[in-house]
Amino acid sequence: MDFTDEVVASFANTPDPRLRELLGALVRHLHAFVREAQPTLPEWNYAIDFLTRTGQKCDENRQEFILLSDVLGISMLVETINNGGRNDVTESTVLGPFHVVESPRRELGDTIDLVGTGEPCLIEGRVLNRDGEPVPGAELDVWQANDQGFYDVQQPGVQLRGNGRGLFTADAEGRYQFRTVVPSHYPIPSDGPVGGLLAATNRHPYRPAHVHFIVTAPGYRPLTTHIFVAGSKYIESDAVFAVKESLITEFKDGKAKFDFIMA
Ligand code: BEZ
Ligand code: FE
Repeated sequence: MDFTDEVVASFANTPDPRLRELLGALVRHLHAFVREAQPTLPEWNYAIDFLTRTGQKCDENRQEFILLSDVLGISMLVETINNGGRNDVTESTVLGPFHVVESPRRELGDTIDLVGTGEPCLIEGRVLNRDGEPVPGAELDVWQANDQGFYDVQQPGVQLRGNGRGLFTADAEGRYQFRTVVPSHYPIPSDGPVGGLLAATNRHPYRPAHVHFIVTAPGYRPLTTHIFVAGSKYIESDAVFAVKESLITEFKDGKAKFDFIMA
């Protein structure tokens, strides 16, 4: 029996068929990678050390493994496989590593900016189904970086916790509205192993300016997405490959408008 088949067969008694399938595919693809790339022992040890450092960098505010998945394009691939292929609903994109605190509940029309620096703007729109009808009880969990390109959790003691975050319930017509400041493009955290990987490969760490949303409603698929600021620097070269044309939104005259279509 081929060596790879032997390792795959070692999982034959796994009671959960999906786990058996996933492990079989993982072993086959990892073995193919090793056969193709032929890593030396020092290279393989480096890879193990890299993954060890990636895990060690994680804590309650920092998720280096999500970052790794993001810069390798894997988060976006998983997202697209699971939520792609529909052209009548709002496209989804990556969750990212900064959805680490619960967003404070706010009233429609409130501001999520607790600092007061940056260009003010109003973001509004509707949450609709594919027939254009309002989605009752839709909740929008929103989070964004400030005008300097930092999330609250990256600047404890500088930004109040909850700055740039809000949990809103749309009204009976599916309408939502909140005030904020126009977010800035920003570098993903690059002081860890993933930053080392980007530097070693001459890749920049920047994401174009965006606002994150998770939109949920009873009976609908949760939607994890962003709206991107049209014309933002790096809109053509997002470090995590997450820009979708349909999510690019004009922020003009202090206003941005975006309707979410749920399935
Ligand atoms: C974010 O948009 O918050 C993000 C996404 C992927 C990597 C780093 C940050
Ligand atoms: Fe972000």
